[in-house]
Amino acid sequence: MANNLLKGKRGIIFGALDENSIAWKTALKVKEEGGSFTLTNAPIAMRLGTINQLAKECNAEVIPADATSEQDLTNLFSKSMEVLGGKLDFVLHSIGMSPNIRKGKEYGDMNYDWYLKTIDISALSFHKVLQTSEKLDAMNEWGSIIALSYIAAQRAYPDYTDMAQAKAMLESIARSYGQRYGTKKKVRVNTISQSPTKTTAGTGISGFDVFFDFAQMMSPLGNATAEDCANYCVAMFSDYTRMVTMQNLMHDGGFSSSGITNELIERLSK
Ligand SMILES: NC(=O)c1ccc[n+]([C@@H]2O[C@H](COP(=O)([O-])OP(=O)(O)OC[C@H]3O[C@@H](n4cnc5c(N)ncnc54)[C@H](O)[C@@H]3O)[C@@H](O)[C@H]2O)c1
Repeated sequence: MANNLLKGKRGIIFGALDENSIAWKTALKVKEEGGSFTLTNAPIAMRLGTINQLAKECNAEVIPADATSEQDLTNLFSKSMEVLGGKLDFVLHSIGMSPNIRKGKEYGDMNYDWYLKTIDISALSFHKVLQTSEKLDAMNEWGSIIALSYIAAQRAYPDYTDMAQAKAMLESIARSYGQRYGTKKKVRVNTISQSPTKTTAGTGISGFDVFFDFAQMMSPLGNATAEDCANYCVAMFSDYTRMVTMQNLMHDGGFSSSGITNELIERLSK
């Protein structure tokens, strides 16, 4: 159902690790809608993942960048404009990592060096992306920059630990930078708060299957898949959403507005 929504638009897609990644699905959709882009990921992820396969499929160049490194980001934005032949119209920040979660640390036993790493990779990197793009004047007017968030920014989930603070900060950066970038350059900045999704980052959280099933039962439309999220990203990159900025956009099948559902009542009735 391609409609050429992104014809002539150029961008950067961060975070395609494997075919389950939200960024991977988004790259395919953006391509289908006529957009061109560079792909990027942390140098270490290049070795683990299969990004080159995606690059081939999308006719995209891969430019490695650790999203916590200003130097890498400067190189990435400069090279992307060079390769794509002009300023950019969209950026997807699809990055998340918590060493504390990865190592199974409980919220009452955080390693603070790792906590800072979580914040740096999963939240501050978004500010670095925005600041780098502004300093290089890399975005066209009405361009759209998106990062992916999760409802643990607003509500407590026991096993999401330090990622909850990272997501709260990520959403805050979208508001603050969105105000600045909108005023100065008419660039839009938003976060999309996505349903639990079966990806490497998602399933790395203990208890994932349970809160995936719970969210499924709490959402009148069911959980949004990675592909649904990719479609939403396309809509947010398109000219049909020109006046949307500084928002945290719930993309969760109705989960965030549900108190309880009949399905859960039936399930919990004795
Ligand atoms: N999967 C879910 O349930 C879910 C729900 C809501 C939001 N999200 C968010 O969606 C985004 C994408 O995650 P995903 O679910 O597609 O999982 P994923 O594991 O496929 O993607 C995470 C990506 O972050 C990249 N990354 C980690 N450290 C990096 C660094 N230093 N520099 C650059 N890239 C780095 C990884 O290499 C990987 O490609 C994340 O922000 C995640 O928190 C996921």
